[in-house]
Amino acid sequence: GKVAVLMGGSSAERAVSLKSGAAVLAALTERGIDASAFDPAEQPVQQLIEQGFERVFIALHGRGGEDGSMQGALQTLGLPYTGSGILGCALAMDKVRTKQIWQAMGLPVAASISVEPQHTDIDCAQTLHQLGGRVIVKPANEGSSIGMSVANNAEQLAQALSQAFNYDQQVLIERWIVGKEYTVGLLGAEALPVIRLQTPHEFYDFDAKYQATDTQYHCPAGLNDSDEQQLQTLAVQAFDALGCHGWGRIDAMRDEQGQWYLLEANAVPGMTEKSLVPMAAQARGMDFPALVEAILAQTLE
Ligand code: DAL
Ligand code: MG
Repeated sequence: GKVAVLMGGSSAERAVSLKSGAAVLAALTERGIDASAFDPAEQPVQQLIEQGFERVFIALHGRGGEDGSMQGALQTLGLPYTGSGILGCALAMDKVRTKQIWQAMGLPVAASISVEPQHTDIDCAQTLHQLGGRVIVKPANEGSSIGMSVANNAEQLAQALSQAFNYDQQVLIERWIVGKEYTVGLLGAEALPVIRLQTPHEFYDFDAKYQATDTQYHCPAGLNDSDEQQLQTLAVQAFDALGCHGWGRIDAMRDEQGQWYLLEANAVPGMTEKSLVPMAAQARGMDFPALVEAILAQTLE
């Protein structure tokens, strides 16, 4: 049946989603699959039925597309869709709840505190001290590093908090991990080869993700076999713990002592030219159209 590629939407990651969606649509078309773009910011989702779509490839990032709400709408409409369901998406979108679940299950996460707007009068100097003197501040429900910044002193922390509160009602202040950054793509029950990300920026921010030419991607990631497997196992456990399935991506770090830290889960990771799941699939011999087709095939399971 006819496939709708949901792309665009109205989150802060709209521009990224339009790129992911365009790439997915081109791949499906190349494979001879009858597919069209559908932007839920431009038409009500019920139109999917009226327009005769029978399956949905979700290429929306962020709120309204990756947080379970669209998944719920599609479920109500009786349309099969790619990726995780309502619960997995809702949890993965929320970095605070994600970490609470991982921590409760004994999975490794960096120390952090979460702040809500009614408590913005926190003692910034004390909080910094408690979290090791350097922190990264993140809106709880955001993607592509939007609204994130690093703070080394109380003044910077206050500024980082007000920046993050522009995007969300809940903000995470996380201990800064000195180490290397990795990501693990997941496809079905399988973890793809690990990628290591290296950026001369302070962290892997929006610019490093989508604009910069000086971001380096290492795949193989330079881990020995047992470390690679250890991270892949952690990623599968982390994804399962949130009730996610189908496909996605887990981001992690490893400090200089070799300790892993799980950062976050992405239920609808980027599918742009520079995106990581396609890169990892390629390293396993699966080209972009084959990856897209494998994800779509999950709607028939
Ligand atoms: N949030 C972006 C799209 C990613 O995880 O790739
Ligand atoms: Mg993310």
